[in-house]
Amino acid sequence: MQKSLQRKFQELKKKQHAIILAHNYQKPEIQDIADFIGDSLDLSLKAIQTNAKVIIFCGVDFMAESARILNPEKTVILPDNTAHCPMAGMVDAESLGWLKKEHPDAKVVAYINTTADVKALADICCTSANGVKIVKSMTAKKIIFVPDRNLGLYIQEQVPEKEMILWPGICRTHHDIKKEEVMALKKKHPAAEILLHPECQLDVIALSDFVFSTNGMVRHAKTSSKKEFIIGTEIGLCYRLEKEIPEKKFYPIPSAVCPNMKKTTIEKVLKSLETLEPKIHLSKEIMRQARLPLQRMMEREKVKGNETYLP
Ligand code: 13P
Ligand code: SF4
Repeated sequence: MQKSLQRKFQELKKKQHAIILAHNYQKPEIQDIADFIGDSLDLSLKAIQTNAKVIIFCGVDFMAESARILNPEKTVILPDNTAHCPMAGMVDAESLGWLKKEHPDAKVVAYINTTADVKALADICCTSANGVKIVKSMTAKKIIFVPDRNLGLYIQEQVPEKEMILWPGICRTHHDIKKEEVMALKKKHPAAEILLHPECQLDVIALSDFVFSTNGMVRHAKTSSKKEFIIGTEIGLCYRLEKEIPEKKFYPIPSAVCPNMKKTTIEKVLKSLETLEPKIHLSKEIMRQARLPLQRMMEREKVKGNETYLP
């Protein structure tokens, strides 16, 4: 990026007391201008810990909404407000309400990939980084898990003592990763370790050496003695891996692209910094109700607020 554009970003961030958070799947040029890059859990933590007044969230809607719910006093901007997570749209509050009525003895765990009004009906949230830990920690025996069926099946396998009622949602980007693609990569790179995201199907997960959230993959690749990795998640993560760990090799699944994650552009981020639009708007009541399940998740991560960032 040109020096003059870099300077413009710095000046605008300072003027607006803004911070740029970007998910690991964002385009390389967005990752390059971000103050923090991370997975859903890490970005929620950063959103709580920052002292910035404005959060420019480069990701998809549920991530920016979670940042807003956790920080009602901050302005949260999603540079392209059509960047939806289709899986989050696969469960709605009314249908979940009916399911809760059918199973009054069950507790609801909502994956963070949900809308605010669905979170408002949940007992606790989780991300791909802590889903197993959260379900294990619950006293209820029966759990309604929404919306990702693949993640639910993976958690059920890890926590067989719970009875899990799964919603039929999927993430197309991960659901469509085929075991043949992973096996072909392994044949080409036999020394590579296979790291997979838990949104993949169980038959694909069976091929993995490790199952991680996107940040978990970064952490593992940094500390592992292995030099090569097959990365079974959205392709954008490989840019971060190659940048932060240039001495190791990463083999992506070329078809694993999330089109909504690619909607953020430098121009849109710049415009958001200038205009402070488009803002995330949620009703006070929905935010109040959705905050509790998110905070319960954060409590289990032992998170404190406002300590790291001064814009
Ligand atoms: P992570 O929290 O692992 O980054 O996953 C987010 C997501 O949307 C996966 O598709
Ligand atoms: Fe949603 Fe899948 Fe895209 Fe993640 S990769 S944001 S779960 S559609």
